[in-house]
Amino acid sequence: MLEGITTTRAIRRFVEEPVPPEVLRAILFAATRGPSGSNRQPFRFLVLTDGPKARAAKAILGEGARRMWDVKRSGERYDRGSGAVSNSRKARVADAMQHLVDRFEHIPAVVLACFLSAGEVGNEGSAVWPACQNLLLAARALGYGGVLTGFHFVVKDQLQAVLGLPDTASFVATIPLGKPAGHHGPVRRRPLGELVFQDSWGNAPAWAVDPPGTEFTSGRTPVPALSSDRLAEIEKSIR
Ligand SMILES: Cc1cc2nc3c(=O)[nH]c(=O)nc-3n(C[C@H](O)[C@H](O)[C@H](O)COP(=O)(O)O)c2cc1C
Repeated sequence: MLEGITTTRAIRRFVEEPVPPEVLRAILFAATRGPSGSNRQPFRFLVLTDGPKARAAKAILGEGARRMWDVKRSGERYDRGSGAVSNSRKARVADAMQHLVDRFEHIPAVVLACFLSAGEVGNEGSAVWPACQNLLLAARALGYGGVLTGFHFVVKDQLQAVLGLPDTASFVATIPLGKPAGHHGPVRRRPLGELVFQDSWGNAPAWAVDPPGTEFTSGRTPVPALSSDRLAEIEKSIR
C-alpha cells in the first residue's frame, strides 16, 4: 500500500482503449469504500465512457478544459523561464496538460465525483476527496491511472442539463481515467521536515527524515491564474 501511495502520479496521457467494465467496477468499488462523516456517504460517481450522453458531456468538459488551460498556461507563464527549455520539467508538465485537454473527447473514461448536499453542514463535500484518492490508488493498483481536475468548474450548468444532475447534487472533481500511455513513478514533494511539525508550528521533528533516494520539488508556483473571478468570466464566455 505504501508503495502505491508514493508512486501514484497524475496521469494525463492515456492509451485510447476502453476501460473494461470489470476494471471500472473494481476502481469504483474502492472509491465508494471511502470514509465519510457518520458514514453518510454523500458521494456519487457519474462515469462517462462512450454512450451518446457521455460523448456530449465529454465534449462540454473538453471545451471547458481547453479554455481553462489556455488561461492557466499564459497566466502562470508555463512557456517562460525553464518552460521555454524543451524537455525541462515545466515544459513536460505543460505538454502533458496540453495533450490532456486536446484529446479530452478521446479519454477512455471520465469520472465525475459528485457531492450530495442533503443535510450536510460544514466541511461541505469533504467526504468526496478521500473517495477520489481511493479511486486513483485503486486505478494505480490495477495498471490504470487518472488525474483529479476541476474542468467542470466553467461548464457546470451545461453538464447538469445533459446528465440530469438533481439540484441536491454538485460536481466536485472531474477525473480522466485510463491506461497510462507513460507510467507512474515516485511522486515528488517537499522534504518531510518542511511539511510536518511537532509540538509547535515550524518545528521539524528529528524523525522527519525522507527515505533514501526521495526526490523533491518545492512546487512553488506564481499566484494562480484561475481565481474565482476569472473562472466566472470563462464560464460566462462559454454559455
Ligand atoms: C484539488 C486538485 C486539483 C487539481 N486540478 C488539476 C487540474 O485542473 N488539471 C490537471 O491537469 N491536474 C490537476 N491536479 C493534479 C495536480 O496538478 C498534480 O497532482 C500535481 O501537480 C502533482 O503531480 P503528481 O500527482 O504527478 O505528483 C489537481 C490535483 C488536486 C489534488
